[in-house]
Amino acid sequence: MPETITITDDRTGKTVTVPIEGGVFPSSALRELDPNLYCYDPAYLSTASCKSEITYLDGGAGILRYRGYPIEQLAEKSTYLEVAYLLLHGELPTTAELEQWVFDVTHHTFIHENMRKRFVDGFHYDAHPMGMFVSALAALGTFYDDSKEIDDPEARRFQTLRLIAKAPTIAAMCYRFSVGLPFNQPDNDLSYPANFLNMMWKIGEYEVDPILERAMDVLFILHADHEQNCGTTAMRVIGSSQADPYSSAAGAASALYGPLHGGANEAVVRMLTEIGSIDQVPAFIESVKTGEDRLMGFGHRVYKSYDPRATIIKATADDVFTVTGKNPLLDIALALEEVALSDSYFVDRNLYPNVDFYSGLIYQAMGFPVDMFTVLFGIPRMSGWLAHWEESLNDSAQKISRPRQWYDGPDERDYVAITDR
Ligand code: SDX
Repeated sequence: MPETITITDDRTGKTVTVPIEGGVFPSSALRELDPNLYCYDPAYLSTASCKSEITYLDGGAGILRYRGYPIEQLAEKSTYLEVAYLLLHGELPTTAELEQWVFDVTHHTFIHENMRKRFVDGFHYDAHPMGMFVSALAALGTFYDDSKEIDDPEARRFQTLRLIAKAPTIAAMCYRFSVGLPFNQPDNDLSYPANFLNMMWKIGEYEVDPILERAMDVLFILHADHEQNCGTTAMRVIGSSQADPYSSAAGAASALYGPLHGGANEAVVRMLTEIGSIDQVPAFIESVKTGEDRLMGFGHRVYKSYDPRATIIKATADDVFTVTGKNPLLDIALALEEVALSDSYFVDRNLYPNVDFYSGLIYQAMGFPVDMFTVLFGIPRMSGWLAHWEESLNDSAQKISRPRQWYDGPDERDYVAITDR
């Protein structure tokens, strides 16, 4: 059976046969038939925008692998910094490589005092931390003269280190500002997740609970990458213009901010709070089926089965709740899941819990305010964004992203004076 596709243009009788490889065929075949023929694919439902070796998803089987390693094994055996190294370099690090990597990231966690003292003070007292996070990422690039040297691998390595290392510092700074607390400087004696929790919560004496430290690390692992999602596509598109990685990451974070994407974890907790009790679940499910409400944290463009990350997060919640006490919204979430998974409206549309359905319950139990949830998504996703940015810059098939369109507007017409309109 040839792995090819043959397309015939019935207007001219011309045909073209092209290979199918990896489940895709080159759309350039269309221009062999007609130089002005393009695929119309709103929201890119059927478009592969790039070739990538980073993350593999099988939406039907609920499979997620970073560089071939199943997410279940990485969540159980790895750490976020080791996973970030894997995403960026393609292989798990040796002991020496990991020690050097952790040392390098640990020694880039500080941010310039002008950001800590002046930049952040420009925000309103109740500014949304995610809006601050997006702005701070773009501003960060203005502190580094080499930020625009995107053709220099060594300069790119430094920007990558800085962004991964400083994301938690910026996130904690946004939180501390929003609650009027003094900032905590990074503590280089702590692990990546422990340092973040320490910067978030330390007031006087503070000891990071190892169970919460490990839960944070697992959540960071689970959120690190997810192939060509909306935010990562934004990173690639902006990076394709040779913008610096700080500006590209700010754009990716802006896409993540949306409630249909990374903002869903915040929307889930607001939804569960609004439902209020288990006996209100049937009425809410009906309001979803009539289109009045959306079941946030459910559904996915790729997963048409259970998001494997949701399974792991649900197990992690049990660990966290042993320390924090159970989040009372969990029972409502479990009831919602049970009703939805047995209702044909959701089953027929392949709507299952995604990564955002349970993560917010953990964050809330750990004390994070709801408006910090998407920032918690952005911290680890930084390594995924940067891995795709690096891969895209090194892909000779890539150039500046500039899709075409189906023009459906008016034909040529003459200007009309305002007195004649
Ligand atoms: C993330 O892409 C990624 O990988 C993203 C992510 C990552 O790691 O980067 O995985 C992170 O963004 C997870 C998704 C978080 N978003 C939410 O939980 C918001 C709620 N979910 C949706 O809005 C929706 O499911 C999307 C946006 C996630 C996916 O939307 P699609 O693929 O465009 O599907 P669709 O909107 O066309 O829905 C198909 C049908 C529609 O019904 P019909 O028009 O056929 O009657 O399913 C319905 C939708 O109305 N539907 C839902 C629903 N999601 C889809 N109905 C109720 N509740 C929902 N959550």
